[in-house]
Amino acid sequence: MAPTNRKPNYGIDAPKVVLRFFLIGIGGLLFASCAWLTSHNGWLPGTRSLVRPLLTMGLAFLVQGAVMVWGSKVAKLRLRDKVLNAIPWRGDEWVLDVGCGHGLMLIGAAKRLRRGSAIGIDLWQQEDQAGNSPEATWRNVEAEDVTDRVELRNGDARELPFADNTFDVVLSSWALHNIYDRAERATALREIVRVLKPGGRLAIIDIRHTGEYAQILQEHKMLNLIRSRPNFLFVIPTFTLTATKP
Ligand SMILES: C[S@@+](CC[C@H](N)C(=O)[O-])C[C@H]1O[C@@H](n2cnc3c(N)ncnc32)[C@H](O)[C@@H]1O
Repeated sequence: MAPTNRKPNYGIDAPKVVLRFFLIGIGGLLFASCAWLTSHNGWLPGTRSLVRPLLTMGLAFLVQGAVMVWGSKVAKLRLRDKVLNAIPWRGDEWVLDVGCGHGLMLIGAAKRLRRGSAIGIDLWQQEDQAGNSPEATWRNVEAEDVTDRVELRNGDARELPFADNTFDVVLSSWALHNIYDRAERATALREIVRVLKPGGRLAIIDIRHTGEYAQILQEHKMLNLIRSRPNFLFVIPTFTLTATKP
């Protein structure tokens, strides 16, 4: 199929958090303006001391919101390319992206395949990514011209609908921390290891629990386990874990 002229849209992560940051930021600036006006005109002279803290708070929240948008729109794509470029692709791999959302890793991997297949599974949770749906992801697949190599499935990381030893590469970005229970995160990691082929490669990018993931992967005897240095693209540190199944 010919590529569409549409540009892919990989979504904004944690949209409600971003909105909250912008609203609190704007509120801070509005209150700072009110405090300045009331003190400047002599109506409430005591409010002068509030101007600077309110201004600082408002700007801090606005900057944090802006960094999160930049992280979703720009920095994530750079990190995606760095992580995928570190994998020695043959071009015929079977790839799984767990919690693929709008297809950031999935499509990046599919572009490195000539004959293989890239499957994305997700629960398509709206609170985790704005406008999350298989239809939105498929539009990106079309825009990036990889429809012949990509498949989307509804599925839960804690119960992967695939046989043991299916995939050459399993990827997951900013998804597993959305499983709030520790034991259930461990189940998801066990599932990921289960569906990887021996010799298969794993790359997990996440903002939380990566130390815990590393420990669990060690318990599963994963080889070449590396936890990257932190990347502050969402202000809070993101780490990348890579490993190989024995
Ligand atoms: C912040 S988004 C990241 C999406 C994509 N990986 C990316 O980097 O742009 C997190 C994704 O994980 C999905 N997700 C959360 N819990 C999941 C689970 N238990 N199984 C599968 N997907 C899940 C959400 O629906 C969402 O699409």
